[in-house]
Amino acid sequence: MSHAKSAEQTSGRSIGPSADEVFRLDGDNPPSFLREDSYESLGNATLAPNRYTSQEFHDLEMKHMWTKVWQMACREEEIPKIGDYVVHDIGDFSVIVVRSKDQTIDAFLNACRHRGTQLRESGTRGNMSRIRCPFHGWTWDLDGKLQSIPCRWDFPEVIDEGYKLSSVKVGTWGGFVFINLDPDADSLESYLGVLPSHFERWPLENRSLTANVQRQLNCNWKVALEAFLEAYHVVQTHPQALPFTGDSNTKYDVWGDNVSRLLTWSGIPSPHMENPPSDEEITSMLVFGVGTEARAEGVEAPKAPSARHALAELLKAQMKETFGADLSHLTVTELVDSTQYFLFPNFCPWLTPALPLVYRFRPYGNDPDKCLMEAQLLHPVPDDGPRPDPVPRRELGPDDPFTDAPELSQISPVFEQDMGNLHRIQRGLKTAKEGVTLGDYQEIRIRHFHKTLDKYLAAGQKDDR
Ligand code: FES
Ligand SMILES: [Fe+2]
Repeated sequence: MSHAKSAEQTSGRSIGPSADEVFRLDGDNPPSFLREDSYESLGNATLAPNRYTSQEFHDLEMKHMWTKVWQMACREEEIPKIGDYVVHDIGDFSVIVVRSKDQTIDAFLNACRHRGTQLRESGTRGNMSRIRCPFHGWTWDLDGKLQSIPCRWDFPEVIDEGYKLSSVKVGTWGGFVFINLDPDADSLESYLGVLPSHFERWPLENRSLTANVQRQLNCNWKVALEAFLEAYHVVQTHPQALPFTGDSNTKYDVWGDNVSRLLTWSGIPSPHMENPPSDEEITSMLVFGVGTEARAEGVEAPKAPSARHALAELLKAQMKETFGADLSHLTVTELVDSTQYFLFPNFCPWLTPALPLVYRFRPYGNDPDKCLMEAQLLHPVPDDGPRPDPVPRRELGPDDPFTDAPELSQISPVFEQDMGNLHRIQRGLKTAKEGVTLGDYQEIRIRHFHKTLDKYLAAGQKDDR
């Protein structure tokens, strides 16, 4: 033990198997993007607590960051028919995202060209044959062309060409629709960096929404986001996972300004455990669950060289049976580990078939003490099948637990453990005098996120001068 401790102190990494050791024991040569190490120290400065609590900081984010970034607005499958739309809101900004033609998605500022009225209510979604203002009835086609104006004779200066709806940049990737409020923004493709190449082997576009849950939370949007960017909290917040979760030896990577990743091991015990369970015991926990109900139904553990292999075999069989999807090309780590990506500023798609989650975090209006968190599950579309309809969207209030959303299945109680911390973090940050301190390695994704955020704020404030 003392030897292990000194290794921990000198390497700057946890005891427990490294990525190379886990992959060697798996013995199936995972793709290079998972083996790649892309960590760099980003310093150790503390963060001012008012980044999470002050109206002034929120206003700077709104002005200089949210107006410049590519942000996920919806899934393409949520607007499948011509005229289907989603209103995407961020602070004071509101954008209508609409399927205007079979293969075309457009986005417009949600403001009438006459006297500014919101054309569609914030937060709504539905289908429309045209875009008509509720005030005086000015009307546009779905592609933003002016169609008609009541008492046209009274507006001699209004020419159709100059009175299109104000268009907003749109891009798609992985079945997601992204918008950017900055007309001069670089392409979505360049913004995504390495992300598309890492999802090529199990594409997000070939998946369908099996859960789509939004909840209002009593904390800043960054407090909620950051609770999901590290596995450092597992030992204290999710102790039930320690017997089968390699938490402190999680692998962390960052790429460019916008992308980061964590890779938390499944099927190996936490390095925190003094008396870790045997591999057979871990297999039993993962295959049968902690209770005995699954065993009573006659489930058998696959014959496999390790708990990780057993879980991988089970998952492949389940995905085939439940979703008609063949995942036989994926290696053990791709199947079982918690591999979660982050795209600045607020979008987290998981690579993991075992738990195919996507998170999105947004401010709630302009209140720095509130936010919206969304959790989606994206299961495979059958290889030979029609695309299933996405599940209906569920919206939970601040007092509605995620366990009210049965479609999130086994992850809800884990979310509830995280939720228990969030309002306390927000309250604590309001009273804190000292800066927020981050771990060099395990919290590198949070530091990386703030570094990018600061770039936007600095660039915007420079332009203001
Ligand atoms: S404000 Fe929209 S038609 Fe008058
Ligand atoms: Fe958590």
